[in-house]
Amino acid sequence: QPRLVIAIDGPSGTGKSTVARWVAQELGLSYLDTGANYRAATLWCMKNGLDLAHPENVQTQDITELITKMPLAQDLNPNNVSLALNGQDITEAIRTDEVTANVSVLSTRPEVREHLVQLQRQAIEARPRIVVEGRDITTVVAPDAQARILLTASPEIRMARRRQQLRETHQDPTKVESDVLERDAKDSALVDFMTPADGVAEIDSTNLSLEDTVTVVLAEIQRQV
Ligand code: C5P
Repeated sequence: QPRLVIAIDGPSGTGKSTVARWVAQELGLSYLDTGANYRAATLWCMKNGLDLAHPENVQTQDITELITKMPLAQDLNPNNVSLALNGQDITEAIRTDEVTANVSVLSTRPEVREHLVQLQRQAIEARPRIVVEGRDITTVVAPDAQARILLTASPEIRMARRRQQLRETHQDPTKVESDVLERDAKDSALVDFMTPADGVAEIDSTNLSLEDTVTVVLAEIQRQV
């Protein structure tokens, strides 16, 4: 079967992960959540005693050594999304407040991005019929994707969606502002995921339900491939 890479980028709280996974299920494709890679890297560095609270003390060399040794395994089946470090399941552990609060420290280090981008490209080569979702997929990881979409929504609606998600997973909903707006501001240091690059279709989901967003995304994919 021919290569079919679908790249979806966007800020947090757009429903990007849910939409991307749904699209993968609908089209029978693999699914790669690159945010989960950055979260796994963060958890791995935390477990190994890296002082992410004081990023200025964290040496490039130490990060590089840790990240290149990260024993990450992930299931790219959209019906069974899971990640493991050293065989230990971390699917839930990467979603804690602590990981969310620390992830930008690592994702704004070029040495981390370089390594994870390489891993992500390898994953795509191994399974070239795949939906890949993140911040830099349409621009850096897979600019040659068969379909490229930027999923956006107003800051208010993104915060409301995240608040809902935090409640559902029994986490602290008051963290929503730092979780969404502050994290986006930090994440923007090296990557622009707010404006569509050339050839990337922007879909604004502010006034769309989840179902309708999936429908619009599927139609846009049809149009591009
Ligand atoms: O998508 P999610 O919120 O799980 O992503 C977690 C973090 O991973 C982001 O806040 C960002 O720092 C980082 N990330 C990234 N590039 C990507 C995907 C995620 O820097 N392609």
